[in-house]
Amino acid sequence: MTFEFKYRPRRLRKTSAVLSLLQETRLLPSDLILPIFIHEGIEVEEVDSMPGVFRWPLNRLAEQVAVWHASGLRAFALFPKISPKNKDPEGSQILNPDSLVYKASRILKETALDFVLIADLALDPYTSHGQDGIIGKDGDVDNDLTVEILAKASVLCAREGFHWVAPSDMMDGRVGVIRKVLDQESFHYTSILAYSAKFCSAYYGPFRNAIGSSVNKLRIDKSTYQLNPSNCREAKRELILDDSEGADILMIKPAEPYLDIIQWAKQQFTVPIAAYQVSGEYSRICAAGKLGWLDQDACAMESLLSIKRAGADLILTYFADRIAHSLGK
Ligand code: PBG
Repeated sequence: MTFEFKYRPRRLRKTSAVLSLLQETRLLPSDLILPIFIHEGIEVEEVDSMPGVFRWPLNRLAEQVAVWHASGLRAFALFPKISPKNKDPEGSQILNPDSLVYKASRILKETALDFVLIADLALDPYTSHGQDGIIGKDGDVDNDLTVEILAKASVLCAREGFHWVAPSDMMDGRVGVIRKVLDQESFHYTSILAYSAKFCSAYYGPFRNAIGSSVNKLRIDKSTYQLNPSNCREAKRELILDDSEGADILMIKPAEPYLDIIQWAKQQFTVPIAAYQVSGEYSRICAAGKLGWLDQDACAMESLLSIKRAGADLILTYFADRIAHSLGK
């Protein structure tokens, strides 16, 4: 039996050639930013909570980044794991030009390869308590004291070879202050990739293990500065504020649970929109893959396509190194 249907959308899905011609969203290696963990040791270490993700020692970094660069990746964000004995309540190593992350940026500058090097600007890799700022008298993270340190650190980052600084702290007013201080120091071309709508998410768990900031427990409460996952209007407000303070790129994080916010931001702003597919989004796909419950590679691709389709111009993802070679140029 055959009906005379006027519309048969399946006509346009008949062959892989047709599918390819009509594909609306495509991932490119240049859409992706690879987060890189570095550590003070001399071995390559796998992160327990993130199979397939490693902490790189400085002696292997330049060579490895050249490999990633050759696969088409053009942006890297560095995340240091420093030894607990170098952490203190003030996170003072963030202002030490000889601490790990600045040694790494100097090494990478010497490669003279053309890529964007991004500094995640926050105190949590450096503080003994694992919070993203200085704890004030009332027991909560002190906003302005923290902003002052981040602004100083942004200048150090620019001086030591980072092209973009990415404040991931969610303190009020920091984008404006960082822009002002960078300009005062003549770093007019250091860009700010602002973690603008950063939610207070349980999906950061594996990352905190990776940088050793979880202080032996998975839960660390950041709810007085990161966004409530239920709040859409508040997320929009944060994005509007960072845009008005001069952020060059606005970021939403995590990515897949917040596609509604990504889509709104894309329509609302003319600056580029970034999204961070965070550690927990990565690890859940890998864990189910290991159990044989999901096809890891197919799910990785589908999740990244959904993030781009929602409106992300750039995606930070731990899958970047493994999928770059399979994407077009
Ligand atoms: C630090 C920072 C975090 C992440 C990126 N920068 C953790 C946090 O806010 O606790 C999470 C990234 C990830 O989970 O992959 N401020």
